[in-house]
Amino acid sequence: MSLNIKFTKDDDVKSDIEIVFIDQNLFKKLPKSKTSILSLQSFSAKDGEAVFLQSDKILYYGTILDDIDSIREAAAKAIRIVKKYDIKSLKIKGFENSDFNYALFIGILLGDYEFIDYKSKITKTTLTDIFIITKKDYKSELHKAMIVANSTNLARNIVNTPPQDCTPIVLADIAKKIAKDFMLDYKIGDVKFLQKEKMELILSVARASTHEPRFIELIYKPKKTKKRIVLVGKGLTYDSGGLSLKPADYMTTMKADKGGGCAVLGVMQAIAGLKPDIEVVGIIGATENMIGGNAYKPDDILRSREGITIEVKNTDAEGRLVLADCLSYAQDLKPDFIIDLATLTGACVVGLGEYTSGIMGYNKKLNIEFEKVASKSGELTAILPFNKHLEKLIDSKNADISNVSSTRYGGALTAGIFLGRFIREEYKDKWIHLDIAGPAFVEKEWDVNSFGASGIGVRSVIDFILKVANGA
Ligand code: BES
Ligand code: ZN
Ligand code: ZN
Repeated sequence: MSLNIKFTKDDDVKSDIEIVFIDQNLFKKLPKSKTSILSLQSFSAKDGEAVFLQSDKILYYGTILDDIDSIREAAAKAIRIVKKYDIKSLKIKGFENSDFNYALFIGILLGDYEFIDYKSKITKTTLTDIFIITKKDYKSELHKAMIVANSTNLARNIVNTPPQDCTPIVLADIAKKIAKDFMLDYKIGDVKFLQKEKMELILSVARASTHEPRFIELIYKPKKTKKRIVLVGKGLTYDSGGLSLKPADYMTTMKADKGGGCAVLGVMQAIAGLKPDIEVVGIIGATENMIGGNAYKPDDILRSREGITIEVKNTDAEGRLVLADCLSYAQDLKPDFIIDLATLTGACVVGLGEYTSGIMGYNKKLNIEFEKVASKSGELTAILPFNKHLEKLIDSKNADISNVSSTRYGGALTAGIFLGRFIREEYKDKWIHLDIAGPAFVEKEWDVNSFGASGIGVRSVIDFILKVANGA
């Protein structure tokens, strides 16, 4: 990360430009001479409006000053604007409040992200120093924001990496590097390991790919620990749909089908830096879903690691198969909580829109708790409620269950219910499923995110882990 954020008490600190966050009330209180110049440029400090006043070297950015989500977003968007200028330093008046300053910092650091690894011509930004003017230093807020933003940007980078360069083996190598750099324990399982573990679901999905699958496990184990959280991520480095091939228009962006797995990597890196007193294990089922003479087929009946048999009715519903074997392994670790993250269903995107993740699970209180934490972290979520009538929709005549529902309604829920079948009775209340298919990858800028991968899930899961670690 190239930005250097520093605190100063000096309002007059020398910098090339200043960003002033302003709302409509404050705007009215500016001297008449100022408001008239700004009004001439059609600026009235409405949320999201921006104007650069050359004479004062100030970027005025309209926002809602008492709304933390607006501040986070404003910081990200204002940074993107000023980055285009030929400036080295910038000052911003901070807040005298921890949460607002954290939102400001994370907004800046996430807004600064761009994916340019594959661009031949890049215009280098010159901005390096940001002065935050506050009465005291907010060092711990900045420390956390840097760790969380770095790990979110790590997840974004991996998700954005094209499928030819991020194969399951490469994803496992990245995980190994994170483990070594951040002193985490790790285990990388190859095909032999998957066979030994009887993970026939992962092996079947992976079979037609020329790239071998990998099982990835990262372990953070502090000395003082009472609880264990296991994270499970869908790591489809490409999802062509398999023999139930996706139409061309639906196949693009499917490099992002590793979004859940990458979020797990991001969280693990952050946890290694934040060092909470709680054990955290991150598991990723990494594979491609491809076509070929040896591809798994609709009508195949597979035996899962958990022993449940599954009739494959659509090879494009591969994520739930990969997760099912991972969830089985996860429960053997005797977790206090299991959270899975997956770009699981298009239905979730249809239902909630592109910006919101679906929360599912049997424990209503836990769902609500997670929703609250996610909202505070700056992520949009909505609880999708299971009901008993959905259960029979995945019945199969030939096997224990089918991998798709018998109706096209409620697809996010029936996928969640499918996963729920692999959760043993004693873990039913400890499990949350997050369908991040919408926000994991959006083909336009939104909120604190640039075009492409958002790293969604990283912030909310980190904050959930911290909350559990603090005994809440
Ligand atoms: N990876 C997709 C889900 C997806 C869709 C993620 C759009 C991101 C954006 C998943 O593997 C899939 O293809 N699901 C199918 C399930 C269906 C066959 C029951 C879907 O949602 O259409
Ligand atoms: Zn699929
Ligand atoms: Zn998929």
